[in-house]
Amino acid sequence: MSINKYRSHYLGDLRKENSEATVTVSGWVKKKRNLGELIFVDVRDGRGYAQVIFTKDAGEAYELANGLRSEDVVTISGEVKVRKDINTEIPTGEIEIIASDLTVINKAAVTPMIIDEETDALEDTRLEYRYLDLRRGPIQEMLRLRHKITMSVRNYLDGEGFLEIETPMLTKATPEGARDYLVPSRVNKNQFYALPQSPQIYKNLLMLGGIDRYFQIVKCFRDEDLRADRQPEFTQIDMELAFVEEEQIMEIQERMFKKIFADVKGIEIEDKFERMTYDHAMNNYGLDKPDLRFDLKLQDVTEIFANSEFKVFSSAEVIKTIVMPNMADKYSRKDLEKLEQVCKNHHAKGMAWLKMSEEGLTGPIAKFLSDEEKAGLVSNLNLTANDLLVFGADTWDVVCSALGNLRNHIARLENLINDEEYRFVWITDWPLFEYDEEFGRYIAMHHPFTMPQNNKFADNVLETKARAYDLVLNGYEIGGGSIRINDRAIQDEMFKHVGLSEEEVEEKFGFYLKAYSFGAPAHAGIAFGLDRMTMILGGTENIRDVIAFPKNAKAREPMMDSPAYVSEAQLEELNISLREEEK
Ligand code: AMO
Ligand code: AMP
Repeated sequence: MSINKYRSHYLGDLRKENSEATVTVSGWVKKKRNLGELIFVDVRDGRGYAQVIFTKDAGEAYELANGLRSEDVVTISGEVKVRKDINTEIPTGEIEIIASDLTVINKAAVTPMIIDEETDALEDTRLEYRYLDLRRGPIQEMLRLRHKITMSVRNYLDGEGFLEIETPMLTKATPEGARDYLVPSRVNKNQFYALPQSPQIYKNLLMLGGIDRYFQIVKCFRDEDLRADRQPEFTQIDMELAFVEEEQIMEIQERMFKKIFADVKGIEIEDKFERMTYDHAMNNYGLDKPDLRFDLKLQDVTEIFANSEFKVFSSAEVIKTIVMPNMADKYSRKDLEKLEQVCKNHHAKGMAWLKMSEEGLTGPIAKFLSDEEKAGLVSNLNLTANDLLVFGADTWDVVCSALGNLRNHIARLENLINDEEYRFVWITDWPLFEYDEEFGRYIAMHHPFTMPQNNKFADNVLETKARAYDLVLNGYEIGGGSIRINDRAIQDEMFKHVGLSEEEVEEKFGFYLKAYSFGAPAHAGIAFGLDRMTMILGGTENIRDVIAFPKNAKAREPMMDSPAYVSEAQLEELNISLREEEK
């Protein structure tokens, strides 16, 4: 007698080799068709599904099968047979089970969504009934992929001498730059923990603690505006290493990604990853996370229009264009208005365009341009008939962002992207600071523990470059890190530049600066977004597809319906009173 009365085999594992075997299987009814003499039931378990047939010979089991409904949970015994009509669509398509016994373990109510490979259920319905959605093959596939990635990473980092160490979730605000999720303390009235935006400070302190190589697959929490590739809680593959510099960090990570791709996709990536400076990425691709799978580079034409009569151009700080080769006849005015809207969504005031024909450049703005300017465009850009040119004219930031996003949009529209291609690129030589309009001060572009190049700050601080690197894959920022400041004087200056007073530094980072006075190793690290990596490897553009219980676009979890109000008694204990209008 088997020790498991429910299962001798997994349904999803059954193959031709199992034919003639007597099996017991358990799972959910996926679909039932009653053809009178025969009842066909597809039954699903955690590894896939197979077809089961009840004939009248099965007697009581046949009668019971007649009453089965979708999602009932059953245990079935029977014999595996090779099918006559092979179904090539599914892995178990060569066999079927001829049932002799059926036990209904649990009847299911009518489900609020169809549970099949494809579903047309609204996303909020899928998230409210996530446990039903999770039964669908494609979602399970994603979770399996995610598991394989983390297993591959753990094995690799273990082999490279990394220790997996947990760091606290109840902590103090960390300086990644998003808003914090706060947790009130009952024991320490009126005080709050912050959930970590990343384990940055702790991993720095692990280095001071003499740990040589740390890693953690860890939840991070950031209260920021959500997008298709952002969640309020997400997972990082986080690491920090003592006594290393950029080259070694990059080499270790490149080998890690090669192993992940070999382990989970069977893809051998042989080349060294490309490298590009931040300035080069911005100027040529408009974004700091360039998708290198297609061309359509931004080209600078500011010089040509220095004295133009066309005010939109002559008054702009920067003018860039994207040449869309041989596409002029495909784009009507309406189509071009749609492209213009993409630019406007990224703060551009408009999008001028020109079409190249045998007669030269045409379009509504052609009449404002001198012959010399037109000739300059034709020769600088090597234009040929039927090329389409779109222009951004504004500040450098706005032009880069508008045309960079438009570039990605056009590539999708024109099907220029090969889904089978994986293009890694390291972005280096980042600015150390950016100016934050909202707060009216400089902020660290990566975080304020990032070492300035040559250990010093430029006179115009915005020109200071950072020893920071991001890894970009197919247009996604999948990871970022830096060489850390381990010199007290540089750290003091850094804090001053980001607008912290001496009192604030003492209050927030006093313990940290003190720690660095007791012998600090040189160290550096990086963190990768596991969710984004899984999205790319799984071929989805929706981060919610790769998380078992994700939040929706309003940062709510529709199944538990959180966040939620709490009782007066709980608030009382925490010494919190709510403002009336907020309730
Ligand atoms: P950073 O802030 O660049 O670096 O984060 C590292 C990576 O985490 C992913 N990521 C996210 N994924 C999903 N949803 C989000 N809201 C989200 N935010 C970030 C990205 C990103 O590249 N402590 C530093 C790392 C270091 O310096 O070592 C840090 O957190 O893929
Ligand atoms: P206007 O003179 O504002 O009617 O604009 C003439 C053309 O220039 C239109 O095609 C606009 O979309 C375009 N345009 C306006 N502002 C900009 C800008 N900042 N960058 C690029 N094109 C622009």
